[in-house]
Amino acid sequence: MLIIMIVVISIGGSVIAPKLDFERFEEYAEVIKEIAKERTVFVVVGGGAAAREYIHVARKLGANETVCDFIGIDVTRLNARLLISALGGDAHPEPPSDYKEAENVASWGKIIVMGGVIPGQTTDAVAAILAEYVQADLLVNATCVDGVYTANPDSDPEAKKLDKVTPEQLVKIVMKTETKAGARSVLDLTAAKIIERSNITTVVLNGADPKNIIDVVLRNKHVGTEIRSSCKK
Ligand code: UTP
Repeated sequence: MLIIMIVVISIGGSVIAPKLDFERFEEYAEVIKEIAKERTVFVVVGGGAAAREYIHVARKLGANETVCDFIGIDVTRLNARLLISALGGDAHPEPPSDYKEAENVASWGKIIVMGGVIPGQTTDAVAAILAEYVQADLLVNATCVDGVYTANPDSDPEAKKLDKVTPEQLVKIVMKTETKAGARSVLDLTAAKIIERSNITTVVLNGADPKNIIDVVLRNKHVGTEIRSSCKK
């Protein structure tokens, strides 16, 4: 059985901030505090609709893609600050701006909440790299779909949800989805490759109900997709 001591929880912006609502942040804060009583917790927060809106406007104004990414990063960090506010004294007061800083400040015993770090990726990659760097026992990706599908369920009626996949299968699925224009996969390719190279046990689940995160971290129970190497006990 997997013994989880360090967990990285990635919360999609579309889950925590589809629109700005303080109660949503409070709900998540409650769940994270509960988990932090028993585990070391790192949280990575996405940008959601606000990030997309800002990026859309920046593109219209002629900003290049790197500038758009920096704007996206700023929004993820704003959402991180909102979650930190909801966590109060239990959280480190600043979102770290890189992985080393995240690990350093975690030694003070507080919950670490961060957003994006560098252009060219999404917070999926941040969460996977952080999980690799701090040697997390589990990476939880709370998103707006209920797991990993064989294909994009929005466009392919044959797509089936998978209960378990190996990291190698995940990379193949993500590559297949991401090669189609405009398609978005459940995790970005960088995240999938990091999960594969370090064999990070990962659960992708629907974050609509934050209690699903307690179930997986504290009770080893979930209805999402588990990504785990077939040779990992
Ligand atoms: P998100 O991680 O929220 O992207 O980062 P997403 O996958 O579009 O969002 P969800 O899952 O639907 O909520 C928002 C944007 O911030 C930039 C990217 O432009 C990304 O699309 N970003 C984020 C970076 O450039 N680097 C990072 O490390 C993180």
